[in-house]
Amino acid sequence: MENRTSKPRILSGMRPTGKLHLGHYTGALENWVRLQNDYENFHLVADWHVLTTDYEHPQRIWPNTYEMVLDWLAAGIDPNQSLIFRQSQILEHAELHLMLSMLVSFGRLQRNPTFKEQIRDLGLEDEYSYGHIGYPVLQAADILLYKGNYVPVGEDQVPHIELSRELVRRFHFIYCQDRAPIFPEPLPMLTAFARLPGLDRRRMSKSLGNTILLSDSEQEIRQKLRSAITDEQKVRKNDPGHPEICPVFSYQQKFNPNQVKKIEMDCRSGALGCVDCKKWAGDAILSFLSPMQEKRKEIQNQPNFVEDVLSTGEQKARTIARDTMSEVREVMGFQKIITYEI
Ligand code: TRP
Repeated sequence: MENRTSKPRILSGMRPTGKLHLGHYTGALENWVRLQNDYENFHLVADWHVLTTDYEHPQRIWPNTYEMVLDWLAAGIDPNQSLIFRQSQILEHAELHLMLSMLVSFGRLQRNPTFKEQIRDLGLEDEYSYGHIGYPVLQAADILLYKGNYVPVGEDQVPHIELSRELVRRFHFIYCQDRAPIFPEPLPMLTAFARLPGLDRRRMSKSLGNTILLSDSEQEIRQKLRSAITDEQKVRKNDPGHPEICPVFSYQQKFNPNQVKKIEMDCRSGALGCVDCKKWAGDAILSFLSPMQEKRKEIQNQPNFVEDVLSTGEQKARTIARDTMSEVREVMGFQKIITYEI
């Protein structure tokens, strides 16, 4: 269970769905950046996981990966400190997934609450694929291949990490009876953050069309804020408002901490109208995003930067994944009988 450094390992991943929004930042990315000094960080592009729901559009995966990794880098993930790599480029993910898939029952996977919710949302109750129900098994392979100690995730992912822990115990019980265990039992690392609402107060999500992207222009951000829902009872400027139900107020809390007290007071008293409040929220979001957007441009202007980061990350990740798989093969008794050069 030796690590390259003595720091505990973090394995985190996102499915590439394109450009990231403020919700991704406050929910995950901000935390990843903060953790990179104290942990050895592995950031995985879950580009096979995308196929569980979007298998008909594999051509979208690369452009979406590119935009997402660009946002990771712009937000401050340092590729010299943290490994960034695509799952699809390291075939060991598929091999370990297969082995783990034998160690969990179908019923156990069907009871996973995150899976049940997704299947219900997509209306797939009678029609989900073999690959889709195996989603958390592939995720377990992602984590175990790199012997991840912690997985920074939101609440919805906790059932998946619990399954990874069960798989570790079962694997060791069956294959490592009188040997040293191979894998640490990964722990979820929950972040105490208030979920950032979207422009319509629902959860911020690309599919709901209520996002502010990290890469949106000033014009786009101002326009989106103008259309944002506030407090429906505050009809005229001087009506008293209820900041606790207003998504724009959540943005003030997050991005305008110095002025938020006064904004809250003036909203409640009716001294501050939504038009001005939205303008200030826009100013705050823009000044928060502007260094990231500068960096994004800088990276975009360097040909092959993203590709090079991925290929370096993938080379290193592959070495680790191969080592882990040779331990797995060994304890399971898959010996090499014939050796030949390819
Ligand atoms: N399931 C995660 C999500 O939807 C993405 C993911 C894939 C992941 N593999 C992972 C997260 C490994 C953490 C660790 O957000």
